[in-house]
Amino acid sequence: MFEYEVLSKDRAKNYSRMLEVLPHYLSKDDTMITNLANVSALINFYVDAINWVGFYIYDGSILTLGPFQGLPACTRIELGRGVCGVAAKTGETQVVEDVHSIENHITCDAASQSEIVVPIYHKGSLVAVLDIDSPIKKRFGTLEKETFEALVRAIVDKSL
Ligand code: SME
Repeated sequence: MFEYEVLSKDRAKNYSRMLEVLPHYLSKDDTMITNLANVSALINFYVDAINWVGFYIYDGSILTLGPFQGLPACTRIELGRGVCGVAAKTGETQVVEDVHSIENHITCDAASQSEIVVPIYHKGSLVAVLDIDSPIKKRFGTLEKETFEALVRAIVDKSL
């Protein structure tokens, strides 16, 4: 059972705690969907000021909506389209300080102002992307890039 805890005002501490508990919610005996469902819940608990967090799964041709927390979202994203599609196509984490400043952004929740998308690779192949949206501009920076890239590495090592 998840142990409820009071979050710190220090984001770095909350992120460290999230990475510490994460392995307890990852298992190679469970399906990827099951593991990612719990990871989306963990991120939603430990990360403040976000309005959407979830995964798009790569099926070999497009990204399809996977486990998430937040409002209903678009179900299919082609590679190269939107921030998720660019992360998937380039293999690079995308940090967008202001989603209104770029043309290639797919709006699912009008509250979203900034975004981070981290691609997930297993044995050299794209399997999914992690997408997190915030209702405030410039919510994600170097700390978040490092944290969510570490989180994604743990997902790959402990559950895929
Ligand atoms: N913003 C994403 C689309 C997915 S929603 O934010 C959940 C994008 O442009 O890739």
